[in-house]
Amino acid sequence: MTRILAKRQLAPEVYLLEVEAPRIQKRWKPGMFIIIRPTDQSERIPLTIVDSSAERQSITMVIQAIGKTTKEAVALPVDGALADLVGPLGEAATMTTGKKVVCMAGGVGVAELLPVAKAFHDAGNHVTALCGARSDNYRILDEELKAGVDRLEWATDDGTFGFHGNVVQLLKSIAGPGDFEEGHVIGPIPMMKAAAEATRDWGLKLHASLNPIMIDGTGMCGGCRVTVGGEVKFACVDGPEFDAHLVDFDELTRRNRAYRDWEAKTMERHACRIGLDVR
Ligand code: FAD
Ligand code: FES
Ligand code: MG
Repeated sequence: MTRILAKRQLAPEVYLLEVEAPRIQKRWKPGMFIIIRPTDQSERIPLTIVDSSAERQSITMVIQAIGKTTKEAVALPVDGALADLVGPLGEAATMTTGKKVVCMAGGVGVAELLPVAKAFHDAGNHVTALCGARSDNYRILDEELKAGVDRLEWATDDGTFGFHGNVVQLLKSIAGPGDFEEGHVIGPIPMMKAAAEATRDWGLKLHASLNPIMIDGTGMCGGCRVTVGGEVKFACVDGPEFDAHLVDFDELTRRNRAYRDWEAKTMERHACRIGLDVR
């Protein structure tokens, strides 16, 4: 059992969870993830490691409660426990030094971006972070990002804060070919695909952190299969980060939709049992 030390709501349906994990805290690197089961009846879900504390022997994750298992996770109380947690999993994010770097994220991807953007900055790069949210009240970790990068810009879909539009439109409005040498993108698949398309001829080495469906996280089940540059890869062990310009995003979209009907039914049954309105 993994004790929950702290829980904080960051935005509608988005929660930060700090859990006791002394061994993971010592070994994780930005870009890596864990797999948790909130309860012993839950399925396994992957979550990015966002931060850690040696003093508190803990790691932090940020969870967007979108379905049954993420809702079970954020419903757990402080001093309660996750049924189990395994990690750190995956390869660390690619790092470089002395370069002009752009880090882009949308939605809960902003939390996943934070440790990577900070690591780029700490490694001696000039880091511009471009972050997207639905609306002003959905923006998360603004202070932490501001403190960790050289330049932070926000885009909101409804224009209530920063640039009116999405992150890729923001990117195109402030930069062009040659302005950045290295980049990292994480978030919804259409956004990562658009970022890759927009920068294909920019001479920018863009790394995308992919979010396929994962089950075991150890390369055994094949659930997280992705195609990169025509080759089959398993995101849990070969990634989750890959060359964005080589990823087959259409296949990733199809595979992530494979269980949509089942996920919707499961969520309805869950909401029904605990008396929630799912609309
Ligand atoms: P469901 O209703 O079951 O599913 C909703 C959608 O989530 C699905 O359509 C599918 O696209 C995706 N999904 C469902 N099951 C899985 C699964 N086992 N693995 C991956 N995706 C799934 N989310 C966060 O909020 N914070 C994070 O830090 C974070 N990090 C991630 C890191 C990695 C490497 C990956 C692959 C995913 C990450 N996710 C993160 C996404 C998170 O795992 C899914 O939102 C979660 O599994 C949804 O489960 P559910 O039962 O609540 O929703
Ligand atoms: Fe099973 Fe990657 S999650 S092979
Ligand atoms: Mg689920």
